[in-house]
Amino acid sequence: MAKTLQQTPILAGVVGYPVNHSLSPIIHTLWAKRAGIDGYYIPVAVPPDYDDFARAIDALRNVGFAGVNVTIPHKEHALRYADIVSDNARQAGAANMLTFVDECAAAENSDIIGFAEAVREKTSVVGSSALVLGAGGAARGVVLALKVLGLTDIRIINRTIERAKDLAEVFDLAVIDWEKKSGAIENIDLLVNTTSLGMSGQPPLEIDISRLNPGAIVADIVYSPLKTALLEDAERNGHTIIDGLAMLMHQAVPGFEKWFGGAAQVDEDLRAELVKELTRRSKT
Ligand code: ATR
Repeated sequence: MAKTLQQTPILAGVVGYPVNHSLSPIIHTLWAKRAGIDGYYIPVAVPPDYDDFARAIDALRNVGFAGVNVTIPHKEHALRYADIVSDNARQAGAANMLTFVDECAAAENSDIIGFAEAVREKTSVVGSSALVLGAGGAARGVVLALKVLGLTDIRIINRTIERAKDLAEVFDLAVIDWEKKSGAIENIDLLVNTTSLGMSGQPPLEIDISRLNPGAIVADIVYSPLKTALLEDAERNGHTIIDGLAMLMHQAVPGFEKWFGGAAQVDEDLRAELVKELTRRSKT
């Protein structure tokens, strides 16, 4: 189905619904320009059904796409569609990358390495304990990243405790009641918010972090606003913080290197471009 010869311009993109908000085109376009690569990275809106997804991916392969990132609501569809699934995508139950080589579609998950790299960028010593807020798809990826980073004591806390218990069973985690979250942060080395609380237009995340270890790192996967109330609190208290853009930039690296064949550098210039776009959007 897919063309076997490397064609130019190289085509890749992101498939989601909605997809207009995606910052991935800015990231890949900047990297392609820096590397002098003739290529396009195109957002493709595909309605939520699996059949629509499969038809769209077939079509993209037919026109010679090298691969695509896959975002909400298609991350599970990507697993179902793929002929080959990487171990981390299988463990996460979701894939955010599909790569097309000859007749084969391969699914991978770079959200996991994206979060791990965002942490490594800030520190080489992460400690051993983490508290993860949330138990959705994003939490699953974060938990796998924490395991990659070598954290052994991972606790999970979620409004719907059954979801936390399901995740805890698969990944051997401790479960804590949502109401006890402010008390649960003592002795934690890394606190991660994976819920949508604190995102623009969503309710605030109400958590008191005054008892957090002074050396603890605080991460939020939300990037709109870039500095959530949680991160503002954490910064005020002297904690190292990791924002949602860090993970977003790092998760893009494997796809760019694979599809465009160039080097992908996560740096301040890239961040500045993304911040500029987020600022522009917040004003419209
Ligand atoms: P994702 O794949 O991005 O993680 P998700 O599966 O919808 O998306 O998960 C969203 C997370 O935010 C969940 O942990 C959800 O908690 P529930 O499992 O109880 O739904 C959490 N969340 C969303 N809105 C919330 C709210 N108002 N209060 C507490 N948690 C909330």
